Amino acid sequence: MKPYFKQKPYPLEFSGAAMIGAEEKELVNRVLDSRSLNRYYGPANQGMVADFEREAATWLGVKHTLAVHSGSGALRVALRALDIGPGDEILVPASTFIATALAVLNTGATTVFVEIDESGNINPNDIEHGITTRTKALIVVPILGVPCDMDSILAIVRRRKLLLLEDCAQSFGCRYHGRPVGSFGDIGCFSLQHCKVITSGEGGLVATSNPSLYERMIRLHDQGFLREAHLPNLGRVASTESPLGENYRMSELTGAVALAQLRKLDRIVAKLKENRRRIYSALQPGPYRFRPSPDPDGDVGCNLLFIHEGTGAQMDEWVHLLCAEGIPAGCRYDGKTVYQYSQIRAIRNPDGTMRFPDGLCPRTEHILQVSAHVPVAPQLTAEDCLAVADAINRTTDKVYSPSKSRCQLTVGHNEAR
Ligand SMILES: Cc1ncc(COP(=O)(O)O)c(C=O)c1O
Repeated sequence: MKPYFKQKPYPLEFSGAAMIGAEEKELVNRVLDSRSLNRYYGPANQGMVADFEREAATWLGVKHTLAVHSGSGALRVALRALDIGPGDEILVPASTFIATALAVLNTGATTVFVEIDESGNINPNDIEHGITTRTKALIVVPILGVPCDMDSILAIVRRRKLLLLEDCAQSFGCRYHGRPVGSFGDIGCFSLQHCKVITSGEGGLVATSNPSLYERMIRLHDQGFLREAHLPNLGRVASTESPLGENYRMSELTGAVALAQLRKLDRIVAKLKENRRRIYSALQPGPYRFRPSPDPDGDVGCNLLFIHEGTGAQMDEWVHLLCAEGIPAGCRYDGKTVYQYSQIRAIRNPDGTMRFPDGLCPRTEHILQVSAHVPVAPQLTAEDCLAVADAINRTTDKVYSPSKSRCQLTVGHNEAR
């Protein structure tokens, strides 16, 4: 019999993209009709980017946000605003998307990789081991919608007088004890790329409550200019500097989609959490642990992360069988730490040896080898969620105790088994 998600394809797991509808079209059409596609120009500017910034600041509970054209652009603008460059060392979790590390390396600063723990996020107990007299900042990355342990992190940052940057690219909508992630650090960075919780295809945002950093980021994202449009929000201009900025501006078309998506964020997160809860509650115990979270209530719910207790080969088979059922399971970053990407492996010391060799963060390397995830989509119905759990339960039996394989759920069947 054809598996459930071969008869009825697994819905698009990128939640923002999946929820695109009339609201995005209406705002985009308003921009097109206005013939004012740049945030600063045009005969009938609709102020989509400015509205997105204002509503994002309210949602995040920060004083200022600035929209940019990507999450990488957000990191670039933030790191430059924090004056990070050659000679500085920046602490970065050993598992994150490569953009986090590249943003640091592209400033001329160096990355010091820190172990993660089973939450998937930086291990607060390992942060201080990486601190030297050159350490200037810590970057934390709440991965796949799970917050970092911000109480421990803030204590270290205060004690060691470090700058704190939150790379929340994957976790718009995530909270830690009620407070949105991205609002704890000196600067929070977000991405609105296609795979993110909310999306405008490409896009990014920086968030801060520090007016000087905000002013600097405005200039850095717009060739060193500070345009009048920002003055009401900025309050007063503190500096006359014109840094060598670049162009990271967001267009009005992107702003229109971003604004419509932001207005759906709470609904998207509620749906993801509901679906994840449904799947969790129908799962049988297996030879795996679930990713722990420092605040489960704050999780976005966009993924189920399993830490397998068997061999790497068993986990690969588990992932392969779920994919064969039409469920897009996967291994975190193909089991690689960020320093195991070819771009970073290519970096050499003056004597020609690898700057970031394998074994740098052995616990992270191990956790990634045994971590597999199943994405949660907002459009999964209650019945679909049972079918996901059923497929996971059967696959776990097949891989770990082949003698007790169960029969599979068919479309239209209302009970898990
Ligand atoms: C943790 C992290 N940081 C930064 C980025 C870069 O964002 P963007 O693709 O919008 O440049 C991404 C995602 O793509 C990410 O997952």
